[in-house]
Amino acid sequence: MRFISKRNQVTLEAGEVVKRYKDLEGLRREAWALEYLSNLGLAVPPLLAVNEDSLRMEYIPGETYEALTETMTVEMAIALAQWLADYQRMTGLLRGDVNLRNFLWTGQACVGVDFEDPTIAGQGETDMGKILAYAVTYGPAFTVEKEQCANLLLAAFSKTGGEREKIREAYLKEIGEMNHRRSGQSVEVAVAALFFDGLK
Ligand SMILES: Nc1ncnc2c1ncn2[C@@H]1O[C@H](COP(=O)(O)OP(=O)(O)O)[C@@H](O)[C@H]1O
Ligand SMILES: [Mg+2]
Repeated sequence: MRFISKRNQVTLEAGEVVKRYKDLEGLRREAWALEYLSNLGLAVPPLLAVNEDSLRMEYIPGETYEALTETMTVEMAIALAQWLADYQRMTGLLRGDVNLRNFLWTGQACVGVDFEDPTIAGQGETDMGKILAYAVTYGPAFTVEKEQCANLLLAAFSKTGGEREKIREAYLKEIGEMNHRRSGQSVEVAVAALFFDGLK
């Protein structure tokens, strides 16, 4: 079985996940991060083996948060916000690549995957705003269910110390950047702003 991956080849082989890298620097960074984060007690897939151009890790059964944006619950939102807050507190860094396929819901907890990118520092709200931008623009965008999802995530981020105004700023910045990346399916920034301002 093959997972959705834009940059790498990620497959399930004999019950384990094998991630093959185009960029070997990415492999090195991810192997290091998985060891480091799991030693700190953060929920990430246990690393099983490091090979020349691939990593082998434990398979985490569950769903990606991308698949859950129409059915988000308080429990799921709190688990994601708490995972992110733990990551930021433990590393002093931003998570950076927060597309929702990098968060898995096991039915009980949130587990983070995909640590190949170079790390960056900044305000925690940057990750939170980006997560909201992803959450509400996955098709179908801006539905009532997406509004519910965004309300739950925003409430959960506030509980872990996120400031609404800073989250809003990062959210709108990410919407602008998405419009550059996803040519042909742009989102009106004014619509995105109104949507945010209607959240609880
Ligand atoms: N340990 C794992 N357990 C379950 N699914 C995983 C695991 N690692 C990755 N996946 C799935 O594979 C997808 C791609 O893996 P990821 O590390 O995010 O690669 P990429 O850098 O290509 O995005 C993830 O979005 C997730 O759905
Ligand atoms: Mg990924």
